[in-house]
Amino acid sequence: MTQPSNPPVLTDRASSWLIVGAGALGQLFAAHLASQRAVTLLGRRDAPSTLGYLTAEGEQRRIALPRLRLRDWRPSPPPALVILATKAHDGEAALAELEPRLDPTTPLLLLQNGFRLQPRLTTCWPGPVLCASTTEAAYRPTSPSTSGEPAVDVVHAARGHTWIGDLAGEHAELAERIAETMNEAGLAASACADIRRRLWHKLAINAVINPLTARYRIPNGELAHPARQREVTALVGEISRLMAAEGIEPPEAGWMALVQRAIGNSAANQSSMLQDVLAGRPTERDAILGPLLEAAERHALDVPALRALYSSTPG
Ligand SMILES: NC(=O)c1ccc[n+]([C@@H]2O[C@H](COP(=O)([O-])OP(=O)(O)OC[C@H]3O[C@@H](n4cnc5c(N)ncnc54)[C@H](OP(=O)(O)O)[C@@H]3O)[C@@H](O)[C@H]2O)c1
Repeated sequence: MTQPSNPPVLTDRASSWLIVGAGALGQLFAAHLASQRAVTLLGRRDAPSTLGYLTAEGEQRRIALPRLRLRDWRPSPPPALVILATKAHDGEAALAELEPRLDPTTPLLLLQNGFRLQPRLTTCWPGPVLCASTTEAAYRPTSPSTSGEPAVDVVHAARGHTWIGDLAGEHAELAERIAETMNEAGLAASACADIRRRLWHKLAINAVINPLTARYRIPNGELAHPARQREVTALVGEISRLMAAEGIEPPEAGWMALVQRAIGNSAANQSSMLQDVLAGRPTERDAILGPLLEAAERHALDVPALRALYSSTPG
């Protein structure tokens, strides 16, 4: 691992921020943060040095920024922050490939859904590990442009909010600084004193919507159909008991209202797990359902609906 004599300062406008994973969220964050910091976007393939970005307001932009293959990147200058924007199951491998070129005290910001990577990296990464829970929505268009217009690499499907915090509660100041920069870059964000609770609330929503929509190959809104509501109710019942056993404070309106609101608000959307299944890609099943099944083991709780859902969901 490299050890620079003068560690880069995150708040320095000239500091370099590295985004690992040039997918939907990685490109969205890069498109915004490049206005505030020297952002480099790392992917698995060669890419042109501009990013085609369609904003949430429908404006097409081209953003110039270095886009490299992860294997070609050199830490010159060393980054002040590494934003990990891969899927949960790819995060550790991507970081392992990068690790020999990084100062071990470099702060990480994890963008993943689920609750698998976050506790693991908090335990084993020597530097600060910040976790984000975001309601921003972005996707990569599947078909290339046919209009002669430059291709769009990423679409900002819906504006949201990002909460940032660390599981150990030791890096509140760092979370504040990152949130501040995100706000300056046009992505609404705030530091969060209880990011574990935020992540588990999102997990509750994702554990119901993602696997059920992938199993039945339906848009999110069809979960409001009476035939699907029985399954939703059984799953939310099990999840509420698990959350109570884990000591996760419930949302004000309760777990069922949280999940139903998410179904209603995203009625026309195709969940990310359904998109992965249709594209033949690995899903985030283990990062989303795995922590719930492990909690059931820890507390000796019977969760037949969640177990059945895990078995019927491709990994
Ligand atoms: N998209 C959203 O709206 C959204 C919203 C909230 C949370 N999230 C969460 O954010 C995370 C990322 O989601 P996403 O939608 O951005 O996924 P995505 O579009 O699949 O992007 C992930 C990217 O990581 C790249 N990658 C994987 N391993 C790599 C490696 N070793 N080196 C370099 N790049 C690597 C992938 O490369 P390839 O292209 O080669 O596969 C892909 O481009 C997920 O946990 C998701 O649940 C997403």
